Amino acid sequence: MLTEWLTWLAADCPPPTRKLGYLRESIAIRTRYRRCKTMWQPHLTNSRAALLDSLQACSSFRTALVFGSGLLLDIPLDELARRFKKVYLVDIVHLPEVKRAVRHHANVRCIDLDVTGFIEHMEALSPERLELPPPKYFLDEPDIDWVASVNLLSQLPLLPVDWLRQRFPELSEAMLEEWGTQVMRQHLDYLAAFAAPTCLLADMEQVIHTGNGEIIERIDFASRLRLDDAAPEQWRWNIAPPGEIAPDIGSFHRVAAHCRQ
Ligand SMILES: C[S@@+](CC[C@H](N)C(=O)[O-])C[C@H]1O[C@@H](n2cnc3c(N)ncnc32)[C@H](O)[C@@H]1O
Repeated sequence: MLTEWLTWLAADCPPPTRKLGYLRESIAIRTRYRRCKTMWQPHLTNSRAALLDSLQACSSFRTALVFGSGLLLDIPLDELARRFKKVYLVDIVHLPEVKRAVRHHANVRCIDLDVTGFIEHMEALSPERLELPPPKYFLDEPDIDWVASVNLLSQLPLLPVDWLRQRFPELSEAMLEEWGTQVMRQHLDYLAAFAAPTCLLADMEQVIHTGNGEIIERIDFASRLRLDDAAPEQWRWNIAPPGEIAPDIGSFHRVAAHCRQ
């Protein structure tokens, strides 16, 4: 608890990011990782391997752009720093220890950015005008030779939807869900706009289950976002064993790598 509190105080994180809950979530992911390290390991290994594999599509190695760098658990940072001239790590929050670790690499930069643009535009939203402009960050940088989005997609709408629900109670749950789907689609369109090989690691589905495996809820991102359900590289991320979220409740994600040359 004390470690979490000290990180909360030490983090270099602007007030809207803190208020929306991103810093709290990042600290919570770190705490859960420490508890579930062994169970998470196959997912982290598969993620790093899929990212490295997708580098085969690159013909030059100037700048690598990584979205969802977070705690760097699933990022093969040493290898990226060795192969690319520059590496941009983009996440809405980088904890102090991540910023310290990155200092070992002179060619790696942490960039704190909301890739959806929600924070930039939230105060101008109204129930009648909820659309966010399509993100354009880095699209005009000519040196980008590889783009990765790492276990980020399904997370994008979560905290913004909490904020919208509170700010505009008149919005129905169906409207909020549709808005969230739109934000995730915009991220997919954004990745497609880069003229470089891309590697998207994303949840195909999230499953909540009881201790004896009975399914309580299944969120199907593959259909919602028209992701290729037959992507050849897929694996299970046992994110929370029963008891982690609530007594006798556990959760796993089916994750896939979608790479484009
Ligand atoms: C499940 S974690 C991904 C794991 C991460 N690659 C790692 O190794 O820690 C999701 C990440 O998405 C980031 N994130 C969520 N919404 C974001 C946004 N709008 N813009 C940028 N990053 C965001 C979170 O801060 C978190 O680090």
